[in-house]
Amino acid sequence: MTREEVSGTDIAVRTAGGVCPIVAESGALGKLGAIAAAAVRGRSACVVTDSNVAPLHLEAAVKPLRDAGFAVATHVIPAGERSKTPEGLVSLWDAFSRAGLTRSDLVVALGGGVVGDLAGFAAATWLRGVAVIQVPTSLLAFVDSSIGGKTAIDLPAGKNLAGAFHQPVAVVADPRFLRTLPAPEIAQGMAEVVKYGCILDADFFSFLEGVSTRGPGESDFARIIRRCAEMKADIVSRDEREGSLRKLLNFGHTVGHAIEKTLGYGVVSHGEAVAAGSVAAVRIGEALGVTPKGSANRIAALLRAFSLPDGAAAIGPEAADPDSIAAAMLSDKKKFGADIHFILLRRIGEATIFPMTAAKIREFLPAALAAAD
Ligand code: GLY
Repeated sequence: MTREEVSGTDIAVRTAGGVCPIVAESGALGKLGAIAAAAVRGRSACVVTDSNVAPLHLEAAVKPLRDAGFAVATHVIPAGERSKTPEGLVSLWDAFSRAGLTRSDLVVALGGGVVGDLAGFAAATWLRGVAVIQVPTSLLAFVDSSIGGKTAIDLPAGKNLAGAFHQPVAVVADPRFLRTLPAPEIAQGMAEVVKYGCILDADFFSFLEGVSTRGPGESDFARIIRRCAEMKADIVSRDEREGSLRKLLNFGHTVGHAIEKTLGYGVVSHGEAVAAGSVAAVRIGEALGVTPKGSANRIAALLRAFSLPDGAAAIGPEAADPDSIAAAMLSDKKKFGADIHFILLRRIGEATIFPMTAAKIREFLPAALAAAD
């Protein structure tokens, strides 16, 4: 497979730094070696994965790389957000050092959001930047975190505070990985999938409503992954550094992050928090007269059908407590006192950036977080 052939896949992130092809098809993992060989000059690779994914998929990822002539080292981190720390980062640098990775070699991030963020950041900083291929294994990583080059680790002061934009040289997304995902993991990813329908594509939202009544099958997932990858690739190609358009992807995340922070990371999943945050954002939009009435109920019904919370109250009283959520929003270190660029819907399928102070959002929170009538 030549570099041109890989770049010729129909979905790609195109930035000033180059083209990142997204190979999203059943059997894509088998092409990993050829894709890697076309992407880098070196022939050493370090595959980073976690303790959940390693027993299921590590060998299947290593084989095509070896078959393509790579010397492959592997590094397995403990599964979970707690690996996304400065110590976790140092452990990856040590692994790259042991593997003798030069600047023309390759890091492969095989896993969900934690592995992708951590290995991506380690690749961004190793020898001031070495190529990384993202191989997502969770639905959330398929549709969101593996695409777009955001990498980061958490610090005691907050999540994702230290990081870099580092576009992968390719994303290899094989939907067959979804077969081994537990149902709660699928549900988590569906919160981000619903997000794309809400902010960018009303037809896709309607398609998801159809899927929710019959239960998603493998061909539905294939379509979901491709369509979400297309949308994300398009947004990142137009606004890599989140100057404006890319902020739309934060729909549901302002309140969602505050819920995660209030309850404690790991107590509520990111997907559950984003689902509740999405309903809150749409209710705020309805109260402001920006979003047509009835939108929140329609979105809540879809989230419920995918086994996600249909609002903050469905998570619990703490998630629906306006004072706690407002305090968590204010303590988000990334806001640094500025207006919050809140994402509202003009309608399902079209989003807009709406600058608001945390105090203004606080006024709407009681109704936005309350249980549905
Ligand atoms: N997950 C949001 C973004 O990549 O911008």
